[in-house]
Amino acid sequence: MSKTYRLAMIGCGKRARSHVPGIKADSRLEVVALADVNLSAAEAMNNDFGFGAAIYSDHREMLKKEKPDVVISCLWTPLHLPVFRDCATSGVKAVLSEKPMAPTWGECLEIARIAEDTGCLLTFCHQRRFAKGNRLVRQMIAEGRFGKILRMDLYSPKNLLDCGTHTFDQALSFNGESPAKWVLGAVDASETLNWFDVKCEVMAGGILVFENGVRANIQVGGPDMDIWGGVRVIGSEGFIEVFWDGNFGKGVIYNDPSWTPPVVEDKPENHMIGVVKNALDSLESGTEPELSYKKALRASEIIFAFYESVRRNARVELPLVGVTDNPFITMLESGRFA
Ligand SMILES: NC(=O)c1ccc[n+]([C@@H]2O[C@H](COP(=O)([O-])OP(=O)(O)OC[C@H]3O[C@@H](n4cnc5c(N)ncnc54)[C@H](O)[C@@H]3O)[C@@H](O)[C@H]2O)c1
Repeated sequence: MSKTYRLAMIGCGKRARSHVPGIKADSRLEVVALADVNLSAAEAMNNDFGFGAAIYSDHREMLKKEKPDVVISCLWTPLHLPVFRDCATSGVKAVLSEKPMAPTWGECLEIARIAEDTGCLLTFCHQRRFAKGNRLVRQMIAEGRFGKILRMDLYSPKNLLDCGTHTFDQALSFNGESPAKWVLGAVDASETLNWFDVKCEVMAGGILVFENGVRANIQVGGPDMDIWGGVRVIGSEGFIEVFWDGNFGKGVIYNDPSWTPPVVEDKPENHMIGVVKNALDSLESGTEPELSYKKALRASEIIFAFYESVRRNARVELPLVGVTDNPFITMLESGRFA
């Protein structure tokens, strides 16, 4: 018989509700606690989904009293590090956190250090890795159906940190997880936004080269995008356009003219089922989860290198060293975009 894990959720807003199909689908989870500074949000979740969980306004008190094995954390971005630290240091075995990792590169590195030191399994919710179409493309790339991958066009809705993380993660997954080698970026800060309590640009664009030699053009937000969010993968033997959710645009295999990209039947709930199942399977087997913090770190490094490139007016080589802040915010606060 498989083990049952005591699950707590911290943050019971919109995104927490998207995690429910994954929780309900896995009989290994028992929801024991819901924590939200807004008690009515936690109560509403408890009622709407019939969890019968204890309700807390203070996640620290909840961690102490309930001693959960697993936490799903759905909080605004600046809270990702402090709440993960609280969980990992209080003995939680696995934290499934919402993306993006953190507002600054230094906080991303600190999150990774805590995960390493405590051994707490940590994932970030790039859930579309579990989309059927994305899995199919990874398999086709591995089988060489598009030949040698040469180039990718990366598209994301605004902005680099909050949405770009999904696109960079998707590109990394298609490119064998090869880390980036260098980044040259530009931002449009003629308007600034505040997403989940992190200030950001209205549009960004640039070039990225991966260690394995694959090149990528990037557009994040702004006009004239021919893909709203996703990746065009261009190989020596064909190409395919893959939207975020794994649906396909155009696709061609040069030596198989009858092939066309299939219509994929999929639902976002299935991605969330994958998030939970894969994390628990990894906890039990000791293998790296598909949404590991190590993979999220690679996407985050590209984002902060991008901003650093703007600050330096120069191409930035990775690994990204000598940076701990969010260069966009530092530039904004110092009047660079005034
Ligand atoms: N993976 C995805 O596709 C995806 C999609 C949308 C949003 N997100 C991410 O999800 C995160 C949360 O977004 P959301 O839309 O759920 O926000 P939200 O505002 O709907 O919910 C956040 C909840 O956290 C609660 N909260 C605030 N401080 C708290 C604390 N200290 N302890 C406990 N609860 C606290 C709030 O009261 C609120 O109920 C963001 O980082 C966002 O980037 C991810």
